[in-house]
Amino acid sequence: MLLEIRDIHVHYGKIAALKGITASVDQGEIVTLIGANGAGKTTTLKTVSGLRSLSAGGIVFDGRDISKMPGHKRVLAGIGQAPEGRGIFPGMTVEENLLMGAYARKDDSSKELAEAYELFPRLAERKSQMGGTMSGGEQQMLAIGRALMARPKVLLLDEPSMGLAPMLVQQIFTIIQEINRRGTTVLLVEQNAQQALQIAHRAYVLETGRVVKTAPAAELLDDPEVRAAYLGGGAAQGTAAPGASPGASRDGGPEAAPDTTASDSGPERGPEGGASK
Ligand SMILES: Nc1ncnc2c1ncn2[C@@H]1O[C@H](COP(=O)(O)OP(=O)(O)O)[C@@H](O)[C@H]1O
Ligand SMILES: [Mg+2]
Repeated sequence: MLLEIRDIHVHYGKIAALKGITASVDQGEIVTLIGANGAGKTTTLKTVSGLRSLSAGGIVFDGRDISKMPGHKRVLAGIGQAPEGRGIFPGMTVEENLLMGAYARKDDSSKELAEAYELFPRLAERKSQMGGTMSGGEQQMLAIGRALMARPKVLLLDEPSMGLAPMLVQQIFTIIQEINRRGTTVLLVEQNAQQALQIAHRAYVLETGRVVKTAPAAELLDDPEVRAAYLGGGAAQGTAAPGASPGASRDGGPEAAPDTTASDSGPERGPEGGASK
């Protein structure tokens, strides 16, 4: 395993935010942590990157116990993070922001820069624009691009789709898949569970500081409990998608999931030439 999170406990003052999280990420995987607000997803990522310290438990990365390693050394060790809320430098240009991501490395970073521009053509077009004047989606791309500049072995992403227009959400998930395809392992935190599970290999479900479920992501997409709690209801009974007016979900509904056509689904439309045995 590239990253092993071993029974970690983390506190904010007296409040226990993580009450024994155990999770792992293998080389080459996309692993996602899903869960409601306050479940402990951000805290888990911050603890892996060294921004929060442990009360108990340990973290092993690339065969080394990094539990007590300071954050800047973890970046050098290969842990890259695009933080929640982006955290780019508003008064620096796009290119300067990207180069900041490589500051800890001594060697030339023109190759990484070219790669960041290839992944995010938008950033290439806006090289000299101040980071603070980029749109939300562009700033998110910039934050991810900057994290990649350090050539991380694992990239930690905290809610990359947050606040983005639907079209950009799709784009960000596609780019995350591409980053992974090019060899970077990804630990992805998302409230957008549906899309996170669609691109992830494995997933952990967090509830109030604990892991309550873990499975291959595709399995969780079909899990009734997970569907009910995190995927907007699941089966087409009762709970309508937010914003959808009752009875209008047949067409135009945003959740037309193509993978729910079970072969034994009830014939609710009447026979159309079927049943010709
Ligand atoms: N800076 C903080 N001070 C006090 N409590 C915090 C702080 N940050 C997070 N918490 C608490 O820790 C728990 C986990 O939060 P967080 O990791 O941000 O969850 P998530 O990212 O899943 O929404 C929550 O109960 C939250 O209120
Ligand atoms: Mg969070």
